[in-house]
Amino acid sequence: MKVPGIEVDISCSESVIFCWYVRRMEPVTEPNRNNSMAEENVFLRACRREPTEYTPVWLMRQAGRYLEEYRDIRRKVAFLELCKSPDLAAEVTLLPVRKLGVDAAIIFGDILLPLEGMGIHLEFVKGGGPLIRNPIRGREDIERLRIIEPEEEVPFLLKAIEIVRRVLGGSVPLIGFSGAPFTLASYLIEGGHSEDYVKTKGLMLEKNSLWHILMEKLTEVTIRYMRAQVHRGVQALQLFDTWAGCLSPWDYEAHVLPYSRRVIQEVGEQAPLIHFSAGTSGFLHLIKEAGGDVIGIDWRTNLGGAWERLGYDVGIQGNLDPSVLLTSREVIEAHVRKILESAGNRPGHIFNLGHGVLPETPEEHVTFMVESVHRFSGR
Ligand code: CP3
Repeated sequence: MKVPGIEVDISCSESVIFCWYVRRMEPVTEPNRNNSMAEENVFLRACRREPTEYTPVWLMRQAGRYLEEYRDIRRKVAFLELCKSPDLAAEVTLLPVRKLGVDAAIIFGDILLPLEGMGIHLEFVKGGGPLIRNPIRGREDIERLRIIEPEEEVPFLLKAIEIVRRVLGGSVPLIGFSGAPFTLASYLIEGGHSEDYVKTKGLMLEKNSLWHILMEKLTEVTIRYMRAQVHRGVQALQLFDTWAGCLSPWDYEAHVLPYSRRVIQEVGEQAPLIHFSAGTSGFLHLIKEAGGDVIGIDWRTNLGGAWERLGYDVGIQGNLDPSVLLTSREVIEAHVRKILESAGNRPGHIFNLGHGVLPETPEEHVTFMVESVHRFSGR
């Protein structure tokens, strides 16, 4: 199929998505996207701390339940099935790009997907989040975990990456992602979400050699998983260490940092990497020590202050409280301005939420937030 003015080469099965995508092509909301200065997308330049015409913005969980189209698809298809259907996953990935005018797409999937190939029975229970039926209890369980070959175990995600890249061409970059070894370990051990991470910490602090074997395996899987994504076309990576904030600084430093650092060293050369964690404002210097071109922070700390502590030799991503998107335009605008002011127009700020979009968020508030970021940061 050939479309005038758009350079793509797509197969028949992908043309359905492509037609859907072209139908929704409305004028982009941000200024200067076609500016000749913008040789490369603002998002990728911000990752390298180069000056940009405005602050790029995307949202964690930008393709999710707050979007009507996503809910429509989910009424017909279960979450894991959606993740494993490349055409549908690509369609969902593209939704926020055209609907909201964000500056980056993130491939639709989940941090827990590679665990299935390692031998874990993963389920998503309605309203309750992920559930692992055979959580890790001891040495045998850990030794049994397989190191995956991403091409064999997550081919669907790699295929979705290929489709999205063909559709987007060079216009909007695609972010790939993985859970960090600690956050993955916490799911494997707890079997799902936890309030206190008692089992995870028990293994980490009392069974040091077992913890090491587990973290080594997860480090290897994370490296392979992220490399495979870059190989198939993602242009940036985000490492989610969402639950690292449950740890004390010294336990993070001793039992987690070395593994995250190895992941980042081994994949960070291949694409710019955003290192995200929540609740870690008390030990941001250790997050930085683990690495990343950009450090993603939550809303519990002032972005400008956090950047000063981190040092300006890394970029920063964040940090609007997702609940703000449930309020009013006035409140959203005021918060956007505060965050932009605290970043002080420095190159290297990527606007995002401090965590994922909440399902009950009105879609028009998200669009308004994206527009506000572009409007107030235009330089
Ligand atoms: O950001 C994106 O839009 C890309 C897709 C993406 C999802 N999950 C889709 C998803 C990404 C990057 C993730 C990461 C993820 N998954 C993390 C790290 C970041 C974070 O949000 O904390 C974690 C901890 C998970 C594990 C996970 N998956 C949880 C805890 C849940 C349930 C929570 C919830 O919101 O229901 C999921 C399910 C999930 N992952 C959904 C989506 C869109 C909701 C599934 C549905 O449609 O019902």
